[in-house]
Amino acid sequence: EDYDVVVVGSCMTDLVSQAPRLPRVGETIHGHKFFIGFGGKGANQCVQAARMGAKTAMVCKVGKDVFGDNYIQNFKNNGISTDYVEQTSDAATGAASIIVNDAGENAIVIVAGANMLLGDPELQKAQGALNHAKVMICQLEISPDTSLNALRAARKHQVRTIFNPAPAFPDLSPEFYKLSDIFCCNESEAEILMGKTVATSEDAGKVALELLRRGCGSVIVTLGSQGCVVLSSQDSHPKHIPTTSVTAVDTTGAGDSFIGALAFYLAHYPSLPLEEVARRANVVASFSVQKEGTQTSFPYQKDLRAELL
Ligand code: RIB
Ligand code: NA
Repeated sequence: EDYDVVVVGSCMTDLVSQAPRLPRVGETIHGHKFFIGFGGKGANQCVQAARMGAKTAMVCKVGKDVFGDNYIQNFKNNGISTDYVEQTSDAATGAASIIVNDAGENAIVIVAGANMLLGDPELQKAQGALNHAKVMICQLEISPDTSLNALRAARKHQVRTIFNPAPAFPDLSPEFYKLSDIFCCNESEAEILMGKTVATSEDAGKVALELLRRGCGSVIVTLGSQGCVVLSSQDSHPKHIPTTSVTAVDTTGAGDSFIGALAFYLAHYPSLPLEEVARRANVVASFSVQKEGTQTSFPYQKDLRAELL
C-alpha cells in the first residue's frame, strides 16, 4: 500500500497535571486539574498529518496492557493504519508525566518502555510501507539505532525524510544530519545539539546554518510564539517566518502538530516552497496551543480554512 506519511516512532500515555507553576526540587505543590491523554511525539505527529487528510501508517510498539489496547483504538479512531503497530509483553506502554503551568509551558518526563523495543524486525515487516511512502518521519523517543535504520531505508528508496531530534542529546551521530531531508527541532533542542544559547531568531538562524552544514537538506528551528527559522541547501540564507499571536493554554505537542502538518504538506504539495509550508504549519500549530492536551488540541481538516489545505 502507498502511504503519504509513515511515522517510525513513539506512543506514550500522557499523564497531565495542570498547576500554577512547575514545582522546585523537593517541593510539593497543588495542581488544579489532572487528565490522561494520548501522546508520544511519533504518534502525535502521525495524528496531526492524518487529521489534515494524509494517508498514514504508524510503525511503533506498545505494551500488551490496557494502555496499549487503548492506543491501538486511538489510531483507528484517527484513520491511521495499525498494520505495523506491535504489542509486547516484555515492557509496558510508554508513559509521559507532564506538568503544565498557567503560562501553558510544560516539563515532561518520559518512560519509553515498549517504545525502546521497536527494532529491525519491525522495520523489516513494515518495509513495503516504508519504501513506498511519500514522507517518513522519526524522532528520538525510540532507540536511536532504530531511527537511524529507518532513515537509511528511506534514503535508499528516495522517500523524503523529516527528522525531529526530540528529546535531544549532545553528540548525536553525524549520520542523522546527512539522512535528514528536513531536520526540524525547537530552540531548546538546538541548544543541546549545538551547545549554545538560542534566544532570538538571529541565534536560531546561526544554529540552523551550522546544522545545515552538518549535511541536512533543509533545517527548520521552531521558536514557539516567534514562529520558526527556515533554510535549505538551495538557499542557505535564514528566513524568519513569524506566526500569529494567540493566547497559549497548553503548548504541549505544538511542535508535533507543526511537524505533522509539515509532513502533510510535503506529501500533498511536494513542490510548495518550504517557507510557505512552514508558514502554514505555524498556523496549524497555533490552533493546538489554544486548547488543553496534546492530540486533543490538534485541528482536523474541518477546523482549518481552505487555504491551509
Ligand atoms: O511532544 C509532546 C509529547 O512529548 C507528549 O505527548 C509526551 O508524550 C512526550 O512524548
Ligand atoms: Na495543546
